[in-house]
Amino acid sequence: MANLASLSIWTFVFSFCFGATECHFSIPLKIFPGKFNVSAGANRSSVRVLALRSDGDGLSLASDPSGTVNFLDMVNNLEGDSGRGYYIEMSIGTPGQKLNILVDTGSSNFAVAAAPHPLITRYFNTDLSSTYESTGRSVAVRYTQGSWEGELGTDLVTIPKGPNGSIAINIAGILSSDGFFLPEIKWQGILGLAYPALARPDPSVDPFFNSVVKQLGIPDTFSLQMCGAGLSASSTVDPPAGSFIMGGAEPTLYRGSIWYTPIVEAWYYQVEVLKLEVGDQNLNLDCREYNVDKAIVDSGTTLLRLPINVFNAVVEAITRSSRIQDFSSGFWDGTKLACWPKGENPWDFFPKLSIYLRATNTSQSFRITILPQLYIQPIADLDGELDCFRFGVSSSANGLVIGATVMEGFYVVFDRAQKRLGFALSSCAVSDGAPLSEIGGPFSAADVAADCSGGVLKEPVLWVISYALVAVCALILIGLLLLLLLPCRRGDGGEITDESSLVRHRIK
Ligand SMILES: *[C@@H]1O[C@H](CO)[C@@H](O)[C@H](O)[C@H]1NC(C)=O
Ligand SMILES: *[C@@H]1O[C@H](CO)[C@@H](O)[C@H](O)[C@H]1NC(C)=O
Ligand SMILES: *[C@@H]1O[C@H](CO)[C@@H](O)[C@H](O)[C@H]1NC(C)=O
Ligand SMILES: *[C@@H]1O[C@H](CO)[C@@H](O)[C@H](O)[C@H]1NC(C)=O
Repeated sequence: MANLASLSIWTFVFSFCFGATECHFSIPLKIFPGKFNVSAGANRSSVRVLALRSDGDGLSLASDPSGTVNFLDMVNNLEGDSGRGYYIEMSIGTPGQKLNILVDTGSSNFAVAAAPHPLITRYFNTDLSSTYESTGRSVAVRYTQGSWEGELGTDLVTIPKGPNGSIAINIAGILSSDGFFLPEIKWQGILGLAYPALARPDPSVDPFFNSVVKQLGIPDTFSLQMCGAGLSASSTVDPPAGSFIMGGAEPTLYRGSIWYTPIVEAWYYQVEVLKLEVGDQNLNLDCREYNVDKAIVDSGTTLLRLPINVFNAVVEAITRSSRIQDFSSGFWDGTKLACWPKGENPWDFFPKLSIYLRATNTSQSFRITILPQLYIQPIADLDGELDCFRFGVSSSANGLVIGATVMEGFYVVFDRAQKRLGFALSSCAVSDGAPLSEIGGPFSAADVAADCSGGVLKEPVLWVISYALVAVCALILIGLLLLLLLPCRRGDGGEITDESSLVRHRIK
């Protein structure tokens, strides 16, 4: 009897373990041991010229008034909008092939279409580039929705409206994809600007911006101004839509001072959210609720995404304070638009949304605020007599994502050198002369926990139980790994099981 009972417990534990972990038994990639040279065989003559001006640690130009980086040349180098993404033109290979590349701070691979696809007009033809080198490694990135597979190589790229010089970088050539390229998009590749920890198949594949900093010697900082505010789904021609400044921050793109929040962990751009307010009303949730899983800043995500508890609290608070009587629930979950007779401006009926971020002085916070114009987003003319809007906030099962809905209000500085993110009022987040965003601070952070991003929220008893289970699972898994997984080596690692990607959250 005792044996039987323990057997069933073990069976339970086994199935629990297998249910709770993701063992990558299938699709082992061809893994070639050892490092490979990014620049092997590439013509680096122009790279060398620039590298000579650097003192080697990549920061010499920060204080060099006659420096080689002219930020003004990079202003307005982005096109696109929040719905279909912001992209920059790049010239890839020798001779250069011009392609549009999506700017994504939520991933770390530089990947371009390297084969024809019905939904894109151009692709990078590696055969036509004399400097392209295949590494023989394959790479796959699977998103919750959408995926691609391809081959890793290296080549030279230049950015017409970027820093001078060509850069030898890792390129994943996309040979097949599913749900990655969608109708209406005008880009053919993705520029992952996050840290090596997210790079596929492993962190030894230097991400694009790491290569830029090493080879051009520019400061390890970039900044983004995204200007599609309120026109997210416009189907008209793309106006100049923003700026991607490599090497620093351009003063003409923001007003007032830059407020900084520490990067909690360098993989995504993870930050610590302390508080949320709807209008003047504090949601009053445990601050760890805001950071369940993680809180990140991601230019490749269209909406502001909130953990489900937070989302529900926000919707409830907006409903209470919006003075609009009946909302179809479909409006909040994104399946329905809300329409008003033309000219009847709905924004007056909605409150502001504020996010409090930990300041670099950790006993303080500052607040970034978006006006309803940024999160009640007009949708292109559907009907002659109505103006229709969608809700620019959605719920998330894997963390809070400060996406384009919020970023469009601010000039965001990704100061990797000092491991912090800066927010300032964006010069383009203005409508009829009135700003669409606000920044305030400093506020005392004494009313919240000293660490809001530490760990998952659970009931104390569940904690103990889950720790026990995790320990048991770990022991069993170690045994299993030794016995079964030796031939499997490491998992393919090609999966980003993360819905925060733009791929998942574009509008149709
Ligand atoms: C890689 O680079 C190093 C130094 O730049 C060089 O000595 C080495 O020969 C290169 N290896 C290959 C395979 O090209
Ligand atoms: C590299 O580029 C320089 C100038 O662009 C050229 O003179 C040289 O021949 C090239 N070298 C190779 C190996 O292609
Ligand atoms: C590139 O170099 C040219 C000529 O030296 C200079 O005018 C331009 O400002 C530079 N561009 C950038 C982005 O530094
Ligand atoms: C940090 O903030 C606290 C509380 O506002 C303040 O007392 C302290 O002087 C600040 N520290 C620094 C270095 O500014």
